Amino acid sequence: MSCATEGGYIGSYPQDVANIGWRLALCFGRIRCGVTVGPKGSVSVLLGISGSLRADATNRKLIREAARHYGGSFVEGDIRLPLYDGDDEKAQGVPGGVALLAAQIASAEAIVISTPEYNQSLSGSLKNALDWISRVEGSPWRGKPVALMSAAAGRSGGARANYALRLAMTPFRARLLSMEVLVAGARKEFGEDGRLLSERIDGQVGELMAALRAEVSRG
Ligand SMILES: Cc1cc2nc3c(=O)[nH]c(=O)nc-3n(C[C@H](O)[C@H](O)[C@H](O)COP(=O)(O)O)c2cc1C
Repeated sequence: MSCATEGGYIGSYPQDVANIGWRLALCFGRIRCGVTVGPKGSVSVLLGISGSLRADATNRKLIREAARHYGGSFVEGDIRLPLYDGDDEKAQGVPGGVALLAAQIASAEAIVISTPEYNQSLSGSLKNALDWISRVEGSPWRGKPVALMSAAAGRSGGARANYALRLAMTPFRARLLSMEVLVAGARKEFGEDGRLLSERIDGQVGELMAALRAEVSRG
């Protein structure tokens, strides 16, 4: 399942607007995604974020494989957002797409992120999304169980990108799993149907998702 992102800006006063936008987006997200809302407003859904925007991205395939292992409802976050610009934020507030993504993070029971390696680091699009989310009130990442993965062309499977992502996530106080999955030579690792070809890597993704579920059940 995936949720479409509304691209427009909401309102004109940044903090209030971010708040209102988030609440609206949360509501909107629930309706559009058709997910189950729990007693405390928590939603039993896995949110996946691909750090690569390409439709055929190996990182997108990897989060979908992770979702298959995790089971239950899956929502794909959209990080195709405007570049962060403090002047735009001041003039127009937080974009609707940012408010929606923040709401999806806040309401997910767990999150899996997969980043490509661009010049030994995480993708600019993913860092831009992290920066935007940090401008929304309410610390949506705080206490969230998060699993990190990477798929890259090189032999290290994006190890440096994964580490850079871990550092970039540090301010947000998420519960980052120490376990991770790195997929080297990524374009050769997926079949036509988008499934992982290697039993070894598929097993690693399964283990990571089991660890993510265990982290969720720790509460
Ligand atoms: C700007 C750019 C920089 C890249 N730098 C690296 C790198 O440092 N290490 C690496 O293993 N692959 C690098 N690559 C190759 C990516 O890992 C490869 O394109 C990967 O498939 C991207 O993920 P995707 O399939 O999800 O789009 C780079 C690709 C681009 C476009």
